[in-house]
Amino acid sequence: MRKVYVSISMIFLLGISILQAQERIPKVEELLSKMTLDEKIGQLNLLTPGGGVATGEVVSKNVEEKIKAGEVGGLFGVAGPAKIRVAQEFAVNDTRLGIPLLIGSDVIHGYKTTFPIPLASASSWDMEMIKHAAEIAAQEATADGINWNFSPMVDIARDPRWGRIAEGAGADPYLGSQIAKAMVHGYQGEDLTDPETMIATVKHFALYGAPEAGRDYNTVDMSRIKMFNEYLPPYKAAVDAGVASVMSSFNDVEGVPASANKWLLTDVLRDRWGFDGFVVSDYTSVNEMVEHGIGDLQAVSARAINAGLDMDMVGEGFLTTLKKSVKEGKVSEETITQAARRILKAKYKLGLFEDPYKYLDKGRPDKDILTEEHRDFARKMATHSFVLLKKHNNVLPLKKNAKIAVIGPLANDKSNMLGTWAPTGDSSFAIPILEGLKKAAPNAKITYAKGANITNDTTLAKNVNVFGEKVSISDNSPKVLLKEALDKAKDSDVILAVVGEASEMTGESASRTDITIPDSQKKLIRSLVDTGKPVVLLLMSGRPLDISEEMKLPVSILQIWFPGVEAGNAVADVVFGDYNPSGKLTASWPRSVGQIPVYYRHKSTGRPAASDEFQKFRSNYIDSPNSPLLPFGYGLSYTDFNFEDVKASADTLNADGSLEISAKITNTGNYDGEEVVQLYLHDVVRSITPPVKELKAFKKIFLKKGESKTVTFTITPEDLKFYNSDLEYVAEPGEFEFSVAGSSAADFDGSFVYEK
Ligand code: BGC
Repeated sequence: MRKVYVSISMIFLLGISILQAQERIPKVEELLSKMTLDEKIGQLNLLTPGGGVATGEVVSKNVEEKIKAGEVGGLFGVAGPAKIRVAQEFAVNDTRLGIPLLIGSDVIHGYKTTFPIPLASASSWDMEMIKHAAEIAAQEATADGINWNFSPMVDIARDPRWGRIAEGAGADPYLGSQIAKAMVHGYQGEDLTDPETMIATVKHFALYGAPEAGRDYNTVDMSRIKMFNEYLPPYKAAVDAGVASVMSSFNDVEGVPASANKWLLTDVLRDRWGFDGFVVSDYTSVNEMVEHGIGDLQAVSARAINAGLDMDMVGEGFLTTLKKSVKEGKVSEETITQAARRILKAKYKLGLFEDPYKYLDKGRPDKDILTEEHRDFARKMATHSFVLLKKHNNVLPLKKNAKIAVIGPLANDKSNMLGTWAPTGDSSFAIPILEGLKKAAPNAKITYAKGANITNDTTLAKNVNVFGEKVSISDNSPKVLLKEALDKAKDSDVILAVVGEASEMTGESASRTDITIPDSQKKLIRSLVDTGKPVVLLLMSGRPLDISEEMKLPVSILQIWFPGVEAGNAVADVVFGDYNPSGKLTASWPRSVGQIPVYYRHKSTGRPAASDEFQKFRSNYIDSPNSPLLPFGYGLSYTDFNFEDVKASADTLNADGSLEISAKITNTGNYDGEEVVQLYLHDVVRSITPPVKELKAFKKIFLKKGESKTVTFTITPEDLKFYNSDLEYVAEPGEFEFSVAGSSAADFDGSFVYEK
């Protein structure tokens, strides 16, 4: 059996190399045949001239000279047709072969029209919307000269201490895969030669979202079975969707940093998944392998290229050492030719050889960037990303003629609204929440007070303010700030408290060990509650927070993340009920840091806890329930939904058959609204321990008040597959339980049997 497997995989590999050989592009081969070794190495070098936000300590020097010397394959961190044209002209006119540059950028959640942070957009569970946001981002970025995007970031993250959880889709491999696909299609469109599309980069390959202790850049170590079933699916989904480039991650995997990990970059990515684009390193991640402790710069550069890494971001290890390694026989010239071929192919796919200036139309920025239509979409998308975490006394939605005290350090703020990693955005265009509320409700009596600093901790503030002031500590004492807020609160019908994290308390290099709302604001919240007035928390964060204390208070809580450029308008739409919130969490929110990682798709263990009540010699805690504070898939609405009649169309599913699972959902409340209908399966017995539950499908539906709809999911054996101990993707016969519900916390409704 094993022998047969090997020979099938050999045929498969042969197939791929034939395919790759067939895909050789005459123009690229002709160029390669003329190129010197130095020129090929030059194509593998990616620089950033600085000026933007650099995410490492090094910024490239002498960029102009290097381009003219044919030592640069691409640039990032430059924007605007005029500036980019200068660089492109150096490459086209001043080098021997005139090869144009790739122009990269981090367009993570919108270009100038900044959308909500990715963790927020994911909470919309709306794939069309996510795809359209990527299309708009591509339209704007390409108008400004960009042809290559360092997005989507699809790292599965189950640890909210990790600041970059903000940049991805959350904790689930299935949902993450759907989002990866939508974003790749959005950025790349149907045809990369279309000047309104750009190359997408799936990152950070691989497992970057699972660093030990949630500390950024930290070591990752996990079994291959866990990788394949839980962490790799979204990267694979991006590859299957045709993503043209992949970025390797900073972390090590099984003792070899991803940027030199041949098993990841070649065996899995190319041989197993059939990826035929190019792989770029992360920012100086080649050089950083010296610090990782696997050799000097020449050694790590050789290891990286031999492993399948094609382009070196910023560090210039390839530029300065590969020639020597070729001479010494440590790297073959063919390996370098192959890497250069992949980069040239990308340039060819974009149409840069036909017209190196095709993204540099001076007329486009004004026409295509930050248009009213784009802003309207950003507003809509933000409203769909908010998650109603707690309802209290039906305080929300508010009346447009109410007396509202808008309190909090994030209430009248522009600089935090875009959220982390919006380097191409401009917070001066952001609508503060106070402004949005006032505009939407001119007849309301709206007052404002800051009430507290985001934090009073000056060290934390300094660490957050590295790229500009996000936390400003008032000259007024906390006491004075609080008094002012309470005075305003006294004279109101309702208090809206805009509280939470500063934008740079999440993102790269922003891990936290304490994920509660900072003390200064907790105190403010308690004092506002003590007034006896109805209180609504508009909570901002780029991660699941520990809000155990706040959940116990008599308050309503609307999670608004970092809503993007239309923040204030979007918040007003939801607060006043013009849009009924429909977002659902895409990662569980813990009761405490001690529970981390807490995720719904966990294993049973041999001693599962029957409930949240402590049982001796069971897998649980003596001081906390196992369940999270808020589960994956959770989110309320101003209305209520009832699920009934959940059933399968048959008791058995055959190998070549399909089966339908349906549920009737009724809007039983007082508002029209949307619900995300989620299908979970549990493979009761399999050859490797199954998760207790897995999301397999979802549909977002709209129901008028009083209306019912039946939602039907079609299940085929493909949906039952997982990677077994031999890493084969299989479905095993046996019983499967199912539930259809509005969150991952529901009990199972029934079961069916899969028969082979
Ligand atoms: C980040 C990447 C990003 C790169 C270039 C790195 O620090 O990890 O996500 O694409 O910088 O800006």
